[in-house]
Amino acid sequence: MRELMNWLSGGSNPDSFPYSEVLAEFHRTGKHFVANELLALLDQARTASAAPPAGGAAATTAGEHSSVRFLRNFLDVALDKWDGRYDYQTYLALKLLRMPRAKFTDDRRVADPAGMRRQQDRLYLQLIADALAFELAAEARTTDLLPQQRPEPALVVKRYRLGIRAASPVLTRLGLSAPVDNPEPAAAAAALHAVVVADQTAAEQRELRLSMLPVYLVHDEYLFIRVLQAYECTFALLAAELQSTISALAGGLPRPAANRLAYARDLLNLSSPLFSLMASMQPESFRTFRVHTEGASAVQSRSYKLVESLCRTPEEPRLASIAYRSVPEVRDRVLAGQPSVEQACRAAVRAGLLTEPDRRLLDKRMGEFAAALIQWRQTHYRIATRMLGARSGTGYTEGTPYLAAVRSIPVFTTDTTTPLPLHRAEPTGGDPE
Ligand code: HEM
Repeated sequence: MRELMNWLSGGSNPDSFPYSEVLAEFHRTGKHFVANELLALLDQARTASAAPPAGGAAATTAGEHSSVRFLRNFLDVALDKWDGRYDYQTYLALKLLRMPRAKFTDDRRVADPAGMRRQQDRLYLQLIADALAFELAAEARTTDLLPQQRPEPALVVKRYRLGIRAASPVLTRLGLSAPVDNPEPAAAAAALHAVVVADQTAAEQRELRLSMLPVYLVHDEYLFIRVLQAYECTFALLAAELQSTISALAGGLPRPAANRLAYARDLLNLSSPLFSLMASMQPESFRTFRVHTEGASAVQSRSYKLVESLCRTPEEPRLASIAYRSVPEVRDRVLAGQPSVEQACRAAVRAGLLTEPDRRLLDKRMGEFAAALIQWRQTHYRIATRMLGARSGTGYTEGTPYLAAVRSIPVFTTDTTTPLPLHRAEPTGGDPE
């Protein structure tokens, strides 16, 4: 790979790394089949990018710093199979995308919740618009990316409709007006993409482009990756909303806490067209590319397990099972006493911080969020059954029997239909925050 060799011998400036050429090579074969010669050169690039800059740290500007970091993250994702650490995080290139994450103020409140939501909306919209743009390009034969098993036109039209349905509420929230009500689905999808691209920064465009690293050459893997990434950013925001809920409760602010839960409920409910999009994947295509995704499974999704454990502390058998063994960072947080909404609610009741109407409202919102999550699990189970049949999962579980067992784990153990006695004892121990 000439461009990469030139880069290595020419000073290895992170700003001039040949991303496009490397990406084109990955796309030509699929990540699973990239030539060892290229991977060895990328390994050298990683060594070069880890070296301190000439002139010492003082000579590094903020811009240089972020391009070095981005290059390291890209190489981390590109070299996962070479290193033998391929997993869900690297398959989805999550390090390259700006996932919403809660930042806390000194008094443990979540800083800039509106900014966090906006961040999620932007990324979510860009992922959906990009998935539709790929369908448009394939239909117009203007791309030769992932050329195998192209879907029939009727299926593509269905994808346009579902993608627009998933994007519409977000467009409204962001105040972007796109003529997505065009009765011609392809035209509506193109309009959506045009609006999103016009609003995108150059950095966002680059992140999106480089976060598409399919393992093989089958058309539908593009949709699979984008839908999973869109769900990841949804779960990342859900986790942040739950953290906000906990800090609001600890601060004696039940109404804002209830509002956070309501936002989380709506976010999850409104993401349901994503599952319909996923269901439009051709099972045969899925079975073709998943042969090369062994070892990457959403059982390793940190944000999903963070959501689950922020609702309530998982019981010991679940914590000791593959579900949490697959996400050691989240397991460690739980073992270190991560507070949960359920604990925070009980602590607020005990401390007399909630009036009767506040408590009822919180109870209602917790019940609604729990219903949304249970619904999500049911739909996921249905789709997994349809796509997989009796095959095992890529995350080393037995597959759908695992999902059947975990789908009914209570989101909260607090009875959300009958009022809590105000003097209820704290059963799990440990006050939040
Ligand atoms: C073709 C579609 C899908 C299939 C066949 C499928 C299959 C599976 C299977 C078999 C598991 C069990 C773990 C394993 O061994 O891999 C699992 C877990 C999981 N999947 Fe999916 N899945 C699909 C789509 C999705 C989507 C779109 C999401 C959204 C993020 C998702 C999120 C999850 C999560 C969070 C878990 C972990 C559940 C837990 O540990 O309780 N899956 N999936």
